[in-house]
Amino acid sequence: MGPSSSDQNTLQHLSTDLSNRVTELVAQLKKDGSKLPTHGATSTFQLPEFKSQNPEIQKSRYAILDSLMELQRIILGPFEYIKTLLNHSHQQPLDIGALRAVVNLNIQHAVPKEESISFSDLARETKIDEDLLTRILRYSVSIGIFSESPVGYVRHTATSKALTEEALANVVKWCADIQVQSDLRLYEAMDPSRPSSAIPKVPFNIAYDTPLGMWDYHAKDKHLEALFSANVATEFGSAEMSPEHLTMGYSWDKLGSGTVIDVGGSSGHVSKAIARLYPNLHFIVQDLPDTIDRVKSDIPTDLNGRLTFQGHDFFTPQDTAADAYFFRYILHNWAEDDVVRIIQNLKPRLENGSTLLVNEYVSNADAATASMEDKIYRERDVQMFALLNSKERTVEDYQRIVARAEPGFKFCGITTAPGHGMVLLEWVYSE
Ligand SMILES: C[S@@+](CC[C@H](N)C(=O)[O-])C[C@H]1O[C@@H](n2cnc3c(N)ncnc32)[C@H](O)[C@@H]1O
Repeated sequence: MGPSSSDQNTLQHLSTDLSNRVTELVAQLKKDGSKLPTHGATSTFQLPEFKSQNPEIQKSRYAILDSLMELQRIILGPFEYIKTLLNHSHQQPLDIGALRAVVNLNIQHAVPKEESISFSDLARETKIDEDLLTRILRYSVSIGIFSESPVGYVRHTATSKALTEEALANVVKWCADIQVQSDLRLYEAMDPSRPSSAIPKVPFNIAYDTPLGMWDYHAKDKHLEALFSANVATEFGSAEMSPEHLTMGYSWDKLGSGTVIDVGGSSGHVSKAIARLYPNLHFIVQDLPDTIDRVKSDIPTDLNGRLTFQGHDFFTPQDTAADAYFFRYILHNWAEDDVVRIIQNLKPRLENGSTLLVNEYVSNADAATASMEDKIYRERDVQMFALLNSKERTVEDYQRIVARAEPGFKFCGITTAPGHGMVLLEWVYSE
């Protein structure tokens, strides 16, 4: 086992430990006459990779993995680590299953914030079978959710404590159901022998056995819709997606005291962040009527008069005039023909000088690599298909699609801010 007391769990200690363990493993493998492992295609390793019976080698390997996992949890922090469990790294069904059980059964709230609680008391409190609860929580401990100390007593780690935040618990609830269930249906959606039916060949539709697209499906279920909003809002709390970057990466002041429509702006969290830094700008947050009904009363007093909400379906013609139409994290949700329709629906309100702003992740078309950065990007792209039959695009794709929709839009270029994963693409309209 790697170090476990909080005093020992410093980055420095872990990295030294890791380095020592790797040196130790290399020495043990050499002594054993084994080849050193690589990850290249020319690696001559056969399964099982570590054939040695030497228990010391196995011990070193697991110690390295323990240190790596603990380092990963610390470097990511509780929020990103939980997102990693759900998305980026392991995608292990059991990790997700355990996480889903914990949050849906509210076990994180039943564990005291600072103290430990015995498995038997916790079982009594949660009315869950004690043996099952103990086994599932002990699995959770193995992935850093809760710790067991002393034996028979469970207490919080930073990760399990983070789950007591309602927003993060909602992210888990949404991802573990909608996203993960959809991801698991890639095969069915790709299978060329699958007979055509009323259910579109899209993983989400197959998983939920529905002809409705994901947005319409959510719109019918207020609870699900609220979970999704929490997921979106919390994602934007992460460093690379923070709306704060947007406020630095673009000269919003060139819009003067104009009006920006935040099309598909959800709860308006992005408009609120920009409006606070640009006190002359006005924002109208548009979204589907049901979403707007849920969020429209949430106008902070400091933004009174400068921020309003409006129900509007962007598949209908825009009926409100503005200086700029801002689409953040919207167009990647839609197939190309739909994106064309969304842009064309601005036409009735376009005047010379109208600005179109699109904020998205963009790909470079380079070959994929086995890096974490590329993995996250490819994952987004495939998940766009899994959920919405859409995709991530390159800057050139967006230029081509906007030109196809409305040739009057002249591309002005892209801006991004340091540390921001997304870019802002800008067009200005002239007849
Ligand atoms: C991925 S979220 C992005 C939210 C927001 N732009 C942001 O960056 O935080 C997509 C949003 O599009 C909204 N949406 C979906 N279909 C829509 C439609 N037909 N008209 C207006 N909004 C729609 C959803 O309700 C959701 O809030």
